[in-house]
Amino acid sequence: MVEGLDPARAVADLRALRELTGDERGAQRVAWTGTWALGRAWLRERLAELPVEVDTDEAGNVWARLPGASERTVVLGSHLDSVPDGGWLDGALGVLGGLAVLRALAAAGEPPVSVALVDWADEEGARFGRSLLGSSLATGALDPEAVAGDIDRDGVTLADALSEHGVDLGRAPAARGRLDHAAAYLELHIEQGPVLERRGEAVAVVTGTAGVERHRVRLTGQAVQGGAFPMDARHDALVAAARLVLEVRAAASDERSRATVGDVRVQPGIPTAVPGACELVVDQRHPDAEVVAGMLRAVREAGDRIAAEEGVAIEWERTWRIAPVQFDATLLDLAEAAARAETGAAPRLFSGALHDAAAVANAGVPAVMLFVQSRGGISHHRDEDTRPEHLEAAVRTLHRLTAAVIERVAGGGP
Ligand code: HGY
Ligand code: MN
Ligand code: MN
Repeated sequence: MVEGLDPARAVADLRALRELTGDERGAQRVAWTGTWALGRAWLRERLAELPVEVDTDEAGNVWARLPGASERTVVLGSHLDSVPDGGWLDGALGVLGGLAVLRALAAAGEPPVSVALVDWADEEGARFGRSLLGSSLATGALDPEAVAGDIDRDGVTLADALSEHGVDLGRAPAARGRLDHAAAYLELHIEQGPVLERRGEAVAVVTGTAGVERHRVRLTGQAVQGGAFPMDARHDALVAAARLVLEVRAAASDERSRATVGDVRVQPGIPTAVPGACELVVDQRHPDAEVVAGMLRAVREAGDRIAAEEGVAIEWERTWRIAPVQFDATLLDLAEAAARAETGAAPRLFSGALHDAAAVANAGVPAVMLFVQSRGGISHHRDEDTRPEHLEAAVRTLHRLTAAVIERVAGGGP
């Protein structure tokens, strides 16, 4: 234990949350579900043991605030929600690692500046396709009216799903005041890739997050009886979609490009009918905004060509986008010093995955992230894992970084 910090307790907390909210298929804390709410209620019980003010903002984000001598606030955060059949650490590490840091700071008496821990609601966008939902609403980047009518696979609207959890989407913009006094935002997360493991290093400093373009593409052909209809006269929406998926992959040719079609829906979806309609979600990413735009252009052109050749109609709807984000230079240096002091190394990595830190940084709050090694780079899957000693080193690094940032903010920075 260093200065009241108990990193082993953070690991025990993570395991307890996994027990409570996971099953044999993995973590089941999908936002706006009962299991997610159970995990958050468990977090509130842990927070109730501390001298912090806990409440939920108008966008559904849970805040715990340790008042300090000044209103200026150092914010730690991440998300408890997971993808379906997800991993135990994605998001939860940042919240429960932050909780360990908050415990240590609370035990040390009133800090010179205030410290807050936030559990952002629905970072994953797993159910409605809108990543960073709670943080984007709270920073004003997302217009609630634009998303209220989004529906999940069962036809439930986003507004109704939030309302079941006490969130009135129309009032979400009122959450914006939460970041008024934020002087810095710090987020610890698993790497979700193989780089640190390959390098044999535990912790990295994250320099920024990729730009993303996400579109729902609807291909409409004609459903006909599959056994009867000749092959050369079909308007098969799934064949067109399959060709488009290959173009999505081909357009991501640069080493730092990422492109994924992770959601495909086919109608009527029976073995005996030629698919008359197909919807797929195309997610394209790159650190350079122009490259993202180029990838999108290439795939849209390919889509028009394929649609003409297959005799189907094609429609594109942008469901989400974010520009590339660079984290704060001063905080990067402080994070580097903290990682080096704890682990002897401080490589810098860029993040292809999105994080709430990107929304916070876009709102003008200086932000930085730490990554910890992921075993095999596996994430969004039940096999997601990190060695306990690496988790503990990461929590120690977050604590050291938080202390350095508090000192700097108390002195008028960063
Ligand atoms: O990267 C993603 O889209 C997710 O929200 N983490
Ligand atoms: Mn995450
Ligand atoms: Mn995730």
